[in-house]
Amino acid sequence: MNRFQIYLCRQLKNPSGWGGRLLLRLLNRDNASMNQLALAQLALRPGQPVLELGFGGGDLLQRLLEMPLSLPVTGIDPSATAMTFVQRRFRPAIARQQLQLHTASAEAIPGADHQFAAVVTVNTLYFWSDADRVLRECARVLQPGGRLAIAYASRAFLEQRQMTEHGFTAYDPPDLEHRLQTLGFTAVQTVTGESAGNGQFFCTCGTAAPA
Ligand SMILES: C[S@@+](CC[C@H](N)C(=O)[O-])C[C@H]1O[C@@H](n2cnc3c(N)ncnc32)[C@H](O)[C@@H]1O
Repeated sequence: MNRFQIYLCRQLKNPSGWGGRLLLRLLNRDNASMNQLALAQLALRPGQPVLELGFGGGDLLQRLLEMPLSLPVTGIDPSATAMTFVQRRFRPAIARQQLQLHTASAEAIPGADHQFAAVVTVNTLYFWSDADRVLRECARVLQPGGRLAIAYASRAFLEQRQMTEHGFTAYDPPDLEHRLQTLGFTAVQTVTGESAGNGQFFCTCGTAAPA
């Protein structure tokens, strides 16, 4: 891996500065099909509150806000650069209080228990310091029967590009499915997608346990 690729891996984990802003624009284009696949797994209904973990450049936030369902949307991301980028991009939605943003990590989701009908995250799993802790946090903030969707690139894709040697942890669908089942999620399954930029990718989903 050359120095530029190592820099890119660091930026993907923590977009910062001008390089981060440029990357966020590219992510919005390159990750569109992963975002679409994740969104389709949520089966959202009108007015349901949705949380996105690690919104990056905001492509998925945009898709959620554009749905004709008047969804209250919350996004969290630990990157100050991503926060400023998305705050500028979605000023009108923030002003009409349809969109709330927090600088935070998935390991400690701000806010009360059982407040979201759906939690979705795309291309952030690799960076979680403790996957079970994040999944417990998702279970905590989901309403009974709420949906969780986690989209991620395959181990083969990450290893082929040596990203696993530079800050990316790879997960396989059976491992993630098992973790969700252990936490009481039902209807756990993984759907597969493919795109030019990301090769084969997965979206593992589950339904939070009823009350
Ligand atoms: C590769 S980008 C993906 C952005 C967007 N979801 C997409 O797919 O285009 C990863 C994003 O996850 C954020 N991130 C990194 N670690 C995180 C964590 N522990 N919890 C939540 N978000 C995290 C980064 O700041 C960055 O915005």
